[in-house]
Amino acid sequence: MKELIQKLPKAELHLHIEGTLEPELMFTLAQKNNIALPYQNIEEIKSAYNFTSLQSFLDIYYAGANVLINESDFFDLTWAYLLTCKAQNVVHVEIFFDPQTHTKRGIAFKTVVDGITKALTKAEEELGISSFLIMSFLRHLSEADAFETLEQSLPFKDKIIGVGLDSSEVGHPPSKFERVFEASAKKGYKIVAHAGEEADSSYIWEAINLLHVNRIDHGIRCEEDVKLVDFLIEKQIPLTICPLSNVKLKAVKRMQEHNIVKLLRQGVLVTINSDDPAYFGGYINENYEAVVKSLHVNKEEIKTLAKNSFKASFLSEVKKQFFI
Ligand code: ADE
Ligand code: ZN
Repeated sequence: MKELIQKLPKAELHLHIEGTLEPELMFTLAQKNNIALPYQNIEEIKSAYNFTSLQSFLDIYYAGANVLINESDFFDLTWAYLLTCKAQNVVHVEIFFDPQTHTKRGIAFKTVVDGITKALTKAEEELGISSFLIMSFLRHLSEADAFETLEQSLPFKDKIIGVGLDSSEVGHPPSKFERVFEASAKKGYKIVAHAGEEADSSYIWEAINLLHVNRIDHGIRCEEDVKLVDFLIEKQIPLTICPLSNVKLKAVKRMQEHNIVKLLRQGVLVTINSDDPAYFGGYINENYEAVVKSLHVNKEEIKTLAKNSFKASFLSEVKKQFFI
């Protein structure tokens, strides 16, 4: 199975580039940029990664992102992730970045986009990895703040395929951002949103009915509502599921209780992704392996999961056909 997972071409559709910041690079950048970290060494960083909830992770994730200052930092971060993609036979990526995490600290939108984009271009040329970039609005911030971010993105529209919604979910439903997503769609952006990770299935309905998403990030709480699961199957709305993340953040108690395989067998278009691999103990292949180990999936199902990652992507129909 391990060999099959390695060998299969895969796409990654749910990956926060800030969540690929490995402790070693965090330390190097903190020293270079003179940023104080609340850790003395790499072991201390790793032992802080003991999360009890989404928020307990986000606090540490945002603190880590403070070391990213220069365009070259964003380039180095992205390039390191892409090298891992190459090693794991990930051939297409759709990467999230959180502009507000950086612009709030006085880092220019351009610095962030240029650093990430230069690495993506190099990966296309040198590693044969294709990519799209998705900017995520932070849902704990205001609608006005999201509108401002949308405006800031417009000069870089040719580099960004879509908009997403992430950060603290409970208490910040999709409806809070209905108008921003309407404006984003009018500008031609594709639409995705985190929903049903920690919050209940009503957030998934809102993402579908109010934001008009092309796909749902996480969506694991759909199983609470039979009508919703039927709807996801009928419309083939993809879920970008992140198994190791869900267990690490206690959205799911144990991998053995994860519903990804049940949803797959029901006909939901589910995909496997890594979310924030530097924090959750694994990149995409480790997520596949964890699912295999705990959930008794067979080889055909693994192949379907890999194919689903292309089906659910924003690649053209012609390019998708090559992998399906
Ligand atoms: N930002 C980074 N990772 C996230 C996750 N799993 N959920 C919500 N926001 C995030
Ligand atoms: Zn996520």
